[in-house]
This record gives sequence, C-alpha cells and structure tokens, in this order.
Amino acid sequence: MACGHPQMEFQVFNQLEKIGARPDVFGAYTAADLWTDPHISEQMLGYHLNGDVASASRTTAFIGDSLNWLAAYLDIGPRTGVLDLGCGPGLYTNPLAMLGAQVVGVDFSKRSLHHARSAAPKEGAPPTYIHGNYLDVDIPGTFDLVLMAMCDYCALSPSQRRTLLDRVSSLLRPDGRFVFDVYGLASMRGREETVIYAPELMDGFWSAELYHGFHHTFVYERERVILDRYEIVEATRSRTIYNWLQHFDSSSIEQELNASDFEVIALFGDLTGANLIPDPSEFCVVAGPM
Ligand SMILES: C[S@@+](CC[C@H](N)C(=O)[O-])C[C@H]1O[C@@H](n2cnc3c(N)ncnc32)[C@H](O)[C@@H]1O
Repeated sequence: MACGHPQMEFQVFNQLEKIGARPDVFGAYTAADLWTDPHISEQMLGYHLNGDVASASRTTAFIGDSLNWLAAYLDIGPRTGVLDLGCGPGLYTNPLAMLGAQVVGVDFSKRSLHHARSAAPKEGAPPTYIHGNYLDVDIPGTFDLVLMAMCDYCALSPSQRRTLLDRVSSLLRPDGRFVFDVYGLASMRGREETVIYAPELMDGFWSAELYHGFHHTFVYERERVILDRYEIVEATRSRTIYNWLQHFDSSSIEQELNASDFEVIALFGDLTGANLIPDPSEFCVVAGPM
C-alpha cells in the first residue's frame, strides 16, 4: 500500500479534527454570512419568493392567512405602527402598508430589501426599510406591533434575546404587542448528531465556485438547542456557518419574557392564530410590556 506524505496527512487530520469539533453552545454568530453573502442571498431570495415552499419564508397561503389574522386580532389599520424585524423581501410589510399601517421593516440583507422596496405599494405610505442588524441599528419611532416571523427569535443566543427584548420594550407603545413564533420541543425530538460530506453540498447552494461541504448537526439536549453547522471549503477560502435553533415550551418562553418585563398575553398554534396544540413543533407568542 502506498503511503502519502506524513506532514500533509497530519495537516489533513488536523483540519478534519477542527471541522468536526463540537463548539460551545451559541459560541459563534454568523447569521450575516448566511443572509448577506452575494451568492447565498440570491438563493435565499429565490426561496423567499417561492410561495409553494415554507423555506426562507412561509408559503403564500400561510402568509395570507397570517396577515388576515394579525389585521383582525390587532385591529391593524390607518395609523397602526408596525415594525417587522427581519422583514426579508417584504412579504408581510408591503401588504400591511396597503392596509394603511405605518410600517418599518428592518433587515441586513440588501438583496431582500431591494426586492421589498421594488414591490412596495406605490400608493399611500410605503414602508420605510432600514438596512442593518436589528440588534443594534437605529430604529426611530414607537410601534403598536413588533413582528418577528419565521422563528428568527430562535436563532439568537440568550444574551442576544435579552438585548432584543430590551430593544422591543423601548420601541413598543404602552399597549403594544410583540408577536413572534418559536420552535417547540417536538421539533427537537428525533434530531440526531450526524455529519454529511458532499462536494457541492446542497447542489451549489453555498457558492458559485467548486467547493467541498461538511454539514454537522449537534444536539445540546440540556440547553434545548440544535446547531446545524456548515463548513464550506473552496480553493481559496473556507467559511463556517452556524445555524442555531433554540427550542421552547410555554413555560420557558414565559420565564424568559418575564425576566425582561414582558408578559405573555396569549399563545397560539402558529402565526395564523390557530389553536395551540399540546407539545407543538412550533407556536406563536403574543407578548406585551408588564
Ligand atoms: C427566516 S427569514 C424570515 C423573513 C421574513 N420575516 C418572512 O417571514 O418572510 C429571516 C430574515 O431575517 C433577517 N435577519 C436575520 N438576522 C438578522 C439580524 N440580526 N438583523 C437584521 N436582519 C436579520 C434575514 O436577512 C432574513 O431576511
């Protein structure tokens, strides 16, 4: 049997050890790389705008039901102030503006915001779109509704969620509502620690160049967190993308909200106002200042 160069084998071994190492929970935050990379954001926008799949955004039918429910439940109309955190290509913001609401959307994907602006209603008051990280970008005004759709809350670490809740608290009017959806414990069950290697992992999703991709899934049972981590190795660069998913039950989200001076006003099965089922895989939270 032929032997390779021992030094090179050692380097490959070390590299693979690094790629496979289990990180500390919420040890790195790379959401911007996922959403703002020119190639990946183009794929993401395609998923957002494909109304048949619930991938980057939910399906067109779901979003329609969701808008109808939000409008009725929160009596959204002229002069309602709405802030959509992580608004993406404006699938909620633009229709809400057509109801006459005064809408602000925040996102750090320039590509999505470009689409949102180009699809904004031409009559009435189009939404104001702010480019930046919703954890720290300047957001003028106060709002009756702060919306965060598609479980983005779960991508944040506990300390980022505290920062977010402090921000939302300062942006909400006294009777305002923070409405968001989260992953339930059922969606964690059955997830196993796995690793997948493939050249052009996910059919070229990660780069227009040739690459090798490693997808590790790590399960943090005690913390109720799943990490999907992608290592993308190209000829001239390599990147690590961390996709963290915090899971909640009704008491853990309530505790977390109470600790930031929010109370749970209601829990629903999803963002269309469906009834909450026992042990859900996702659910919707309506919270207000204490
Ligand atoms: C799962 S998508 C949901 C988009 C939209 N809410 C919807 O349901 O159609 C999450 C969005 O949040 C944005 N995003 C994620 N983290 C962000 C951050 N820290 N600051 C600003 N935008 C962020 C992404 O660019 C993306 O558009």
